[in-house]
Amino acid sequence: MAKKLWGGRFSKKTDPLVEEFTKSIQYDYKLAKHDVLGSLVHAKILAKAGLISQKEGKIISQGLSTIWGEIKSNKFVFDKNAEDIHTDIQNKLEKKIGVAALKLHTARSRNDQVVFDTKRYCVFEGAHIIKLIKKFMGEIDNFAGKNKNIILPGYTHMQHAQPVALKNYILAYKYMLKRDSERLSSALKRMNYPLGSGALAGTPIEAEVYNKAAKEISDEMGHPFFGTVENSIDNVSDRDFVVEILSALSIIGMHFSRLAEDLIIWSTKEFGFVEIDDAFCTGSSLMPQKKNPDTLELIRGYTGKLYGNLVSVLVTMKGLPLTYNRDMQLDKEPLFDSTETIKKELMILAKLIKGIKINKDKIYQQLKDESLYATDLIYYLVDRKIPFKNAHNIIGKLVKYSVENDIQIKDMPESLLKKFSDKFIKKEIVKLFDPLVSVKSKRSIKR
Ligand code: ARG
Repeated sequence: MAKKLWGGRFSKKTDPLVEEFTKSIQYDYKLAKHDVLGSLVHAKILAKAGLISQKEGKIISQGLSTIWGEIKSNKFVFDKNAEDIHTDIQNKLEKKIGVAALKLHTARSRNDQVVFDTKRYCVFEGAHIIKLIKKFMGEIDNFAGKNKNIILPGYTHMQHAQPVALKNYILAYKYMLKRDSERLSSALKRMNYPLGSGALAGTPIEAEVYNKAAKEISDEMGHPFFGTVENSIDNVSDRDFVVEILSALSIIGMHFSRLAEDLIIWSTKEFGFVEIDDAFCTGSSLMPQKKNPDTLELIRGYTGKLYGNLVSVLVTMKGLPLTYNRDMQLDKEPLFDSTETIKKELMILAKLIKGIKINKDKIYQQLKDESLYATDLIYYLVDRKIPFKNAHNIIGKLVKYSVENDIQIKDMPESLLKKFSDKFIKKEIVKLFDPLVSVKSKRSIKR
């Protein structure tokens, strides 16, 4: 086992099973670059506070910068025997620069380091996800533009409802994504990197030193995330920022799952509205004819995992007394997992949507169903001053008659139509069974 950041008060070695059980390096290595940056900031503060000399500060910074370079060029190999990434970086620094590294941990604890690193991970990954969302929104726009003249049956309760423009339908997902992206950015706005919590009680370094350093570093790095901690106890205890991100990612997952479900249904033989590109489907080992929408099914399926990750952190946190408890180490795997999943899904969906083929014939066959125009018939009567409820009743009876007598409304003679309402004029009525007329008559919506 690698050297630990603690041990002085122990007379026995940690049980090997406990070593294995308690370590987090196997996943928190992903925080390496954020941890190094946090240490660079901390070294600066220590030098300003006079807790290390300028020379020591320089040596530490140079050592950390070398590690930073290794991370950037993918040469960084984490020590799987280290307890966690904070320990690993400290050990690596000691190897590189010797005794000067022993002062770096002055006035800090892994409890504040881990918050700093995890918040920075969220800010970076969150910004990346927002970019990917924008890209996918652009692809949705392209798809909508390419198919702007397609009309399809709209459904409620999975039953034919009213014709809608495909453009309108698919853009609904763009609006969801817009809110998703706003939700993420608003969570990120709350995510500053507070300095000076120590383990929980604060540190002996003057707030003024942190204030100045925070300002300098923010200016230098061009982002406003650094700040002096307002409440050190809150800072090391808080994981609501993880919950917020996981919740935003779960909502994205929910939206993707619904989109996947729509496309899965539309690509069945029964619907046949769309065809998903071969590159996004898989076959069957037994049935040679099969082309299965597995990618979409997995997008739908992973939503369960995204929700699970959110619930897991919520449940882990609910009974914890302030401040840091080791349970909180378990926030990372769910956070990383959901982040990676959503990134992959965004990249896949942005490609998948480009290859969707629309089968107009199949769609237009469905649009022949007269029931889709029943609401338009109500509006026809409403325009002729029949109260809506009465009109609803009249059309209901007309539809019932049509179904029971197996006769299309279009085919009914005017004399029959007039039995339901004397306002009906056949040559006007027949024009209403037209998807374009129906869609165009909805003037309240953006087109
Ligand atoms: N690996 C730990 C985590 O992720 C670091 C914090 C350990 N702190 C402690 N006081 N034992 O939470």
